[in-house]
Amino acid sequence: MRKDGTPAAVSGNPAGKLSLLFETKPLVATFLAVFLVIAIWNIQPYYDNLLSTTRRCSATISLAETTTTLPAKKLSTSKPTDPNKRIFTSYGNAASLFVQMGAYRGGPRTFAIVGLASKPIHVFGRPWYKCEWISNNRSSPSMKAKAYKMLPDWGYGRVYTVVVVNCTFAVNPNEDNSGGKLIIYAYYGESPKKYEKIEALEEKPGSYNESNFKPPYKYEYLYCGSSLYGNLSAARVREWIAYHAWFFGPKSHFVFHDAGGVGPEVRAVLDPWVRAGRATVQDIRDQAEFDGYYYNQFLIVNDCLHRYRHAANWTFYFDVDEYIYLPDGNTLESVLKEFSDYTQFTIEQNPMSSKLCLNDSTHEYSRQWGFEKLVFRDSRTGIRRDRKYAIQAKNAFSTGVHMSENVTGKTLHKTETKIRYYHYHNSITVPGEPCREFLPVSAKKRVTLYDNLPFVYDDNMKKLAQTIKQFENETIGAVHV
Ligand SMILES: *[C@@H]1O[C@H](CO)[C@@H](O)[C@H](O)[C@H]1NC(C)=O
Ligand SMILES: *[C@@H]1O[C@H](CO)[C@@H](O)[C@H](O)[C@H]1NC(C)=O
Ligand SMILES: *[C@@H]1O[C@H](CO)[C@@H](O)[C@H](O)[C@H]1NC(C)=O
Ligand SMILES: *[C@@H]1O[C@H](CO)[C@@H](O)[C@H](O)[C@H]1NC(C)=O
Ligand SMILES: *[C@@H]1O[C@H](CO)[C@@H](O)[C@H](O)[C@H]1NC(C)=O
Ligand SMILES: *[C@@H]1O[C@H](CO)[C@@H](O)[C@H](O)[C@H]1NC(C)=O
Ligand SMILES: *[C@@H]1O[C@H](CO)[C@@H](O)[C@H](O)[C@H]1NC(C)=O
Ligand SMILES: *[C@@H]1O[C@H](CO)[C@@H](O)[C@H](O)[C@H]1NC(C)=O
Repeated sequence: MRKDGTPAAVSGNPAGKLSLLFETKPLVATFLAVFLVIAIWNIQPYYDNLLSTTRRCSATISLAETTTTLPAKKLSTSKPTDPNKRIFTSYGNAASLFVQMGAYRGGPRTFAIVGLASKPIHVFGRPWYKCEWISNNRSSPSMKAKAYKMLPDWGYGRVYTVVVVNCTFAVNPNEDNSGGKLIIYAYYGESPKKYEKIEALEEKPGSYNESNFKPPYKYEYLYCGSSLYGNLSAARVREWIAYHAWFFGPKSHFVFHDAGGVGPEVRAVLDPWVRAGRATVQDIRDQAEFDGYYYNQFLIVNDCLHRYRHAANWTFYFDVDEYIYLPDGNTLESVLKEFSDYTQFTIEQNPMSSKLCLNDSTHEYSRQWGFEKLVFRDSRTGIRRDRKYAIQAKNAFSTGVHMSENVTGKTLHKTETKIRYYHYHNSITVPGEPCREFLPVSAKKRVTLYDNLPFVYDDNMKKLAQTIKQFENETIGAVHV
């Protein structure tokens, strides 16, 4: 990361100064070394006379050594005379002050910058942020804005924690549409002297269009998936996207985030949907460099929130082993119309067995889809289970994995009779056949104990299988997994 303005090192701290010198000077040192080697080469006779025991090649080596030990030499020269004055010499970088993933305009006056930051700095210090707009129009003065930060994975972060910085200006900083840059200043602590200057976003001349931030939006429904990792089953992914493309309808879009889970086979089942304009796959494999919570999923969901803040009426957050379902003949449109006064609502799960199938000789299991043959539901009630959610993104400032706590407007939890989701826990990573245990046909009519858990037959999803297969064939043609 580039340092600008006041250097990050506290002045008067020799160790800090030295490490800065070490960071910014190696090029100069290398030049100097090369220059000296050439000089010595040219004055070889004299050199040989002066240092008769040293040969040419070893001279080069010793010069190279001089280059690398330059800071240490400097250290000894700047060592204070007080023998009790201790010096702390640091090496390497631990966690960056700020790692930017995305910066987005969120409206006529507001922007969000989504990134990671060293967690200790946020736990033990008080880093803060400031924003500035620098217009391309030389005669319009730069504009400053207050910024506030949100830490949406607070308590979950590891070396890194997720930071969403909100910059809201008094007026649209690019009113004349001449374009410009959003700069954010990230401060290490309370002192305004120690900071990094980050060029977060650029708007090209003429690119601002206010109608991008007003309804009607491009999509009715957007899916923001969290990080995909591990060995995903291409068959299950194929079924998931076919189902949800049908469920959410033609004005919906799916955003997947590939943290290594989208191998060639999974890619092949997603590609037809990408080509049809129904899905986007973002490559986020480089997130592995930064040790955050579970493949940085809090970072990913926040990036998706702000990237698509004005792209859809509703944004859904759930996983690829989960299937949204409307009980009792509800339609998605009617349910969401009913919920439209709420900024977000959470969704209760129907936990399904990922290995129990029915022993019915009239069916050929290997040809059936996962949700067609996994038909046993854990019937325990009154257990607290994870929920998933949907949000009107324009009213959200940051978000989490199970809900957002930084929104304007109300949240609705009592939704279980209107909308639910079927959860086939971990079925997405099971290679090949998911059915591991076959229950007799009599299990359709009674509660079956398996691993001491009660299961009942539930074929709501199975009943939709034919419709989805036909829809898939009509939409993207024949699929071979
Ligand atoms: C540049 O800014 C000045 C002062 O705000 C304004 O009068 C002028 O119209 C702007 N130029 C363009 C090209 O927008
Ligand atoms: C702004 O966007 C809207 C909707 O996409 C479009 O109809 C309009 O032409 C755009 N305006 C300009 C000035 O580009
Ligand atoms: C989406 O929002 C637009 C504009 O607010 C509205 O007309 C439309 O009915 C909404 N659609 C859905 C499915 O909620
Ligand atoms: C992923 O699955 C493939 C094929 O089933 C297998 O060859 C590979 O070793 C698996 N990789 C991991 C990391 O489990
Ligand atoms: C399925 O049921 C048939 C008889 O109905 C039985 O012969 C067979 O062993 C059962 N298979 C499994 C896997 O339980
Ligand atoms: C930033 O915060 C303000 C005030 O809370 C809010 O109105 C605005 O929508 C937020 N912007 C973004 C991009 O989240
Ligand atoms: C965001 O949520 C956190 C709690 O998760 C809260 O402390 C903070 O005040 C909230 N900020 C805004 C702007 O809503
Ligand atoms: C897909 O549709 C085509 C024609 O629309 C039909 O010939 C074919 O049998 C269908 N395939 C499946 C697997 O349903």
